[in-house]
Amino acid sequence: MTTTDARTDSATQRIRHVTVIGAGTMGSQIAMVSALAGFDTTLVDIAQLPLDRARTQLWERVDRDVAKGRRTAPDVAAAKQRLTFSTDRDTVVSGTDVAIEAAIEDLAIKRELFASLDAVAPTHTLLVTNSSNIVSSQIADATRRPEKVCNMHFFNPALVMECVEVVPHERTSPETVEAITALAQAFGKTVVRLKQEIPGFVANRLLNAIRREALALQEQGIAEVEDIDRAARTALRHPMGPFELMDLVGIDVVYLIRMAEYEQTGDPESLPAPSVKELYEAGQYGRKSGQGWYSYTS
Ligand code: CAA
Repeated sequence: MTTTDARTDSATQRIRHVTVIGAGTMGSQIAMVSALAGFDTTLVDIAQLPLDRARTQLWERVDRDVAKGRRTAPDVAAAKQRLTFSTDRDTVVSGTDVAIEAAIEDLAIKRELFASLDAVAPTHTLLVTNSSNIVSSQIADATRRPEKVCNMHFFNPALVMECVEVVPHERTSPETVEAITALAQAFGKTVVRLKQEIPGFVANRLLNAIRREALALQEQGIAEVEDIDRAARTALRHPMGPFELMDLVGIDVVYLIRMAEYEQTGDPESLPAPSVKELYEAGQYGRKSGQGWYSYTS
């Protein structure tokens, strides 16, 4: 296992097995990150198809890393051995030390899910959510272990992006914060800790400010999507423009994050921009559907 210091060792010593719930873009890559870091890991979903798709995409991704000399063949072979795929959530969670939830951004579903996880997980198991907009205080009271619940927020693509935000709610214990911080570090990530909850946390709030402005410029007819992205890339040296990034993250995710924030704030300012709503309703989710702000069919 890759560990960075003594604190990391002691805080993660009880973590042998990690469960990731949800085989979408985020969940699948988080599971691979965990397996590559040396943890026995199971990726869980309700259906077999997304698990099969995740395995194919992950294996392609890490094989390419070997071909390009970014990882060694034995490391990748060992990580593949450590990563298993299952639709039998209860059995997996009954033997896990940490469950990382990366399912849909819907509060009612998450609450139900956390109650079910709590019912079968061992008492020491930490239950964390990858959500950036649904703060864990909204979920923790669906469990009998609120002190072992917090947000552990990764960025897309999780195999590449260094940052993980760790966000406790008022009743999260310091031990949980330490253990999740150490786990993220053992994953090779850099941790940003928040002192208190706020929807969107730090990085997405910064990102949202740029995205809001980009959408306003486009909707007011000031500049084309391509030119706004070009400005972000060539004037600000962002790796991609705000519209390209929405297509990478998923228009569905962008839309649902705004709706989840609206549910929490009741502020019409939180609602998705009209153009995002239009794309969402047309099923144009970005890269994953072949069409979003840009077309990916070729
Ligand atoms: N999954 C895994 N690895 C990927 C990847 C993906 N989807 N896309 C790219 N990579 C890796 C690969 O190793 C790739 O190299 P190969 O294609 O040779 O294997 C390498 O990155 C370089 O990729 P590209 O040459 O295609 O393009 P790039 O140099 O522009 O890098 C990028 C791609 C890393 C995505 C980069 O453009 C970037 O950092 N973009 C910004 C991403 C960002 O802001 N993410 C945060 C989103 S917000 C969020 O996630 C929060 C939330 O709550 C929704």
